[in-house]
Amino acid sequence: MAAAERTEGSCPVLPLASGRSIPVLGLGTSHRGGYSHDAVVYAIQNCGIRHIDTAKRYGCESLLQKAIKESGVKREDLWLTTKLWHSDYGYENTKKACLESCERLGVEYLGLCRSIGVSNFLISHLEQLKEDCVITPHVNQVEYHPFQRPQELVDYCRSRDIVFEGYCPLAKGEALTYPSIIQLAKKYGRTPAQICIRWSIQNGIVTIPKSTKAERIEENCKVFDFAIAEDDVEVLNGMHDGRHVSWDPSLVVFYILI
Ligand SMILES: NC(=O)c1ccc[n+]([C@@H]2O[C@H](COP(=O)([O-])OP(=O)(O)OC[C@H]3O[C@@H](n4cnc5c(N)ncnc54)[C@H](OP(=O)(O)O)[C@@H]3O)[C@@H](O)[C@H]2O)c1
Repeated sequence: MAAAERTEGSCPVLPLASGRSIPVLGLGTSHRGGYSHDAVVYAIQNCGIRHIDTAKRYGCESLLQKAIKESGVKREDLWLTTKLWHSDYGYENTKKACLESCERLGVEYLGLCRSIGVSNFLISHLEQLKEDCVITPHVNQVEYHPFQRPQELVDYCRSRDIVFEGYCPLAKGEALTYPSIIQLAKKYGRTPAQICIRWSIQNGIVTIPKSTKAERIEENCKVFDFAIAEDDVEVLNGMHDGRHVSWDPSLVVFYILI
């Protein structure tokens, strides 16, 4: 675990430069693979999920509003991340898009704006951003799983107080049938998904696995009662082969629009 980590309730949190703390485990809600209202309610009510990752693009912000209301958990006890789209660039558009996301999610703040983040920013993008930004982003959300472990970027973010958040922690399911991961799962009496999620967390990465199935969400949340030995963490670290299961942001040229 990262040294700065501290615990509130059952899910540890990491402090952000904004002064807030982000739960290290969240629930992904990407549009790929569908959305289940019952699974989200179950995650909040029964699995201790207090961090939900969404985006305007996923099209489920309004559905999440219903699930959050039904869960009975108060807004102040939830960490909600949403993401704007490229077309929302510029101050006024960004503000409008934030307000619209708040409305769809049924919340007054995300917020508007308690912590800010970027996604798919590589070192080159963050270096360019640094030239023009007043506030360094508090979080950078990037693909992270055993086959995609961009350690140089993780180190860069850490050195600048940017928390690294990893998406696709199960490599969209690809990691779950990988023989060495299955072998480690057997060794620890856990499932391949739990091994992947626990490995991310032990590497100090905030992680947001998605499932539309209550029983899998429950499984994915049971990762705080065991630890992977250091030599096995190294085995998992060694599986990096650079493959992307989402997309490769290295070809994106980033411009500051003024
Ligand atoms: N910022 C970005 O550009 C970006 C890009 C991609 C993703 N994300 C975020 O990251 C989240 C996670 O990424 P992801 O959803 O693409 O991939 P993922 O979490 O790595 O994998 C999700 C897949 O694994 C399956 N799964 C989940 N738990 C399982 C388990 N215990 N056993 C077996 N299968 C399991 C799910 O199927 P079932 O639903 O059938 O269980 C789904 O097909 C997204 O939902 C989104 O919030 C962000």
